[in-house]
Amino acid sequence: MIDRATVEKILDAVRIEEVIGDFVSLRKRGANYLGLCPFHQDKNPSMSVSATKGIFKCFACGKAGNAVTFLMEHEHLSYWEALRYLAKKYHIEIVEKEETAEEIASRMRYESMLVVSEYAQKFYADVLWNSEVGKAIGLSYFRERKFTDETIRKFGLGYAASRPLTLSAAALKAGYKKEYLVASGLCLEREGSGELYDRFFDRVMFPIHSISGRVIAFGGRTLKTDKSVAKYVNSPQSEIYDKSRSLYGIFQAKNSIAKADKCILVEGYADVISMHQAGVTNVVASSGTSLTVEQIRLIKRFTDKITIIYDGDAAGIKAALRGIDLVLEEGLSVKVVLLPPEDDPDSYAKSHSLIEIQEYIEENEKDFISFKSELLLKETERDPVRRSQVIRDIVQSVAVVPDPILRNVYVEMVAEKFEMKPDSILASIAEFRRKKRALERSRRRFDSAPQPEPEEFIPEDLPDAEAPTRPAQVDRYALKDGYLAVPERELTYYLVKFGEYPMYFEDDMYYGAEQHEEMTVSQYIRDALADDDLVFVNDLYRTIFERYYAYLATLPREESEVMQQRIIRFFTAGDDPAVARAVLDLILEEHPLTVRTYEESITPEEQALGRTVPKSVLLYKLRITDQQCTATAREITLAQRGGDQDNLRELVARLQVLNTVKNRLSKELNRL
Ligand code: CTP
Ligand code: MN
Repeated sequence: MIDRATVEKILDAVRIEEVIGDFVSLRKRGANYLGLCPFHQDKNPSMSVSATKGIFKCFACGKAGNAVTFLMEHEHLSYWEALRYLAKKYHIEIVEKEETAEEIASRMRYESMLVVSEYAQKFYADVLWNSEVGKAIGLSYFRERKFTDETIRKFGLGYAASRPLTLSAAALKAGYKKEYLVASGLCLEREGSGELYDRFFDRVMFPIHSISGRVIAFGGRTLKTDKSVAKYVNSPQSEIYDKSRSLYGIFQAKNSIAKADKCILVEGYADVISMHQAGVTNVVASSGTSLTVEQIRLIKRFTDKITIIYDGDAAGIKAALRGIDLVLEEGLSVKVVLLPPEDDPDSYAKSHSLIEIQEYIEENEKDFISFKSELLLKETERDPVRRSQVIRDIVQSVAVVPDPILRNVYVEMVAEKFEMKPDSILASIAEFRRKKRALERSRRRFDSAPQPEPEEFIPEDLPDAEAPTRPAQVDRYALKDGYLAVPERELTYYLVKFGEYPMYFEDDMYYGAEQHEEMTVSQYIRDALADDDLVFVNDLYRTIFERYYAYLATLPREESEVMQQRIIRFFTAGDDPAVARAVLDLILEEHPLTVRTYEESITPEEQALGRTVPKSVLLYKLRITDQQCTATAREITLAQRGGDQDNLRELVARLQVLNTVKNRLSKELNRL
């Protein structure tokens, strides 16, 4: 962790034009700089960099951000990695946050283990290229498998021989500590004597890299065909290697994954290497283990599209099926390519040209619905029981997709494919999701682990027999992202852009605030919402809202503009990219506002805050009330149908009150 003060220091030192200038050539154009946008195929310079504001924006593709987000996107760094990069560039010493002696020791241990692993990689490569056994056995094996020298070097392949060419002996002699050789799992200690011996011997070695290219583990393949010898020996889990969080080839593949906006997932080391060698470089492997959530999230940093290419044999198909739901559940889209039964990606890549491979993938890539239905229905087309099982299986996969809109798209696809009514599919999806949540809830109750945020309440959670599932779903989304999101976005806009500016009320323009009281925009908005116990519905705006006030509480009172700059920086250089994006979009937007009139658009915005902010609040309240009216009207219809007189009377009374409120709000809005 980098402490807050250092983060501020780094951000203070950053000159965005210098940071971007390292990757893109920029020309000065007035107050700004102009260059070719690296995020799309830019023919004319469309990226503008504002040195004073510290932000960049591409007018062609819309990409925008500050120096930190530029590095995160362009270099695929995490937030902290980007800060470290900048610290290095500007020679700022990073003060690790209140590190205890213990933390320092553990950091040194971590670093030492990496250093030892990197030494081992060089050692094994050296044995491969330069020793007699290495050349005779290891190198000739790789060459037999048609790996070129370039490929062997690119993946840092090596050979682990046996005595006297052991890693233990060489590493100790070179001064590496026993402790780290053992901790990284490269060497083991003989019981009693404490003598070191190698984990890997007589094996060709595949180093496994972290996303930033450091060697964290090895896979060693035996060349013996003897079934009693394990085909692969892999490094054990350690502080530097968590196999469920690593992907073989991610370091070599990450740029192409981002560029192709697609990640191809295969099973083994050899598959990755042969595909790369053939020219398909957006390929990684989960290395024998079944795919994990963490691995999917790693991929998600670069793309949200995964294509699984597994062997056409039974084991491959089974593994592909297992991967599908997990990928869907993480919100990524997934396709599957099955190879001819006799092939694996390795053999296929070797026996075909790049064009052939690409064509094969294109032609055989199936979305999971087609994949599952074709596969599972193959032999049992006329068996209705089997057919309904298959449908159920597919619907279950659709049910795990988190995005309701995407889920609806899949529902339409399933409906069309199986000639079913979307409504009935939606009903069983609601059922699946309800069950899944109940299960998660009961699991949670038994876990002592910190409870995740309670899931948002959505209508399909109801065991509703009466209300049709589909309209409810569509409505919910429309409400959330359209109707209420507009004023929520607008209020968020005022908050992040002008929150610490004073509001000047002209006498007849005042709404809700004590007259003549000096008030900032952020105070006004907070009070106005608290008055009616309102909380933003939209997750993103609610998050920004909450963080705004939490951060504000830590700030000293300063000039409005200074405070606002700090706040904007807090958001745009923060570690939550979704929030940073949203805030940037808001402050960069030209004419975002529904409440802004022509008259206001010619006066500076900050002078009109006393009018525009209250308008925005009123609009929000009006829409919420309106939404409640609609909901109540719907309930009335249901109550009428059910003949529930008491309930009906109550509902009608409620609707009257709501309508009064609505009228009052619209009147006020018109007055402003
Ligand atoms: N694997 C493993 N341990 C094993 C077998 C397999 O860790 N005993 C992992 C390896 O990461 C391997 C992947 O599972 O790359 C796929 O296994 P397999 O298809 O058997 O290996 P390949 O890499 O394809 O090896 P080869 O083509 O050389 O037979
Ligand atoms: Mn293989």
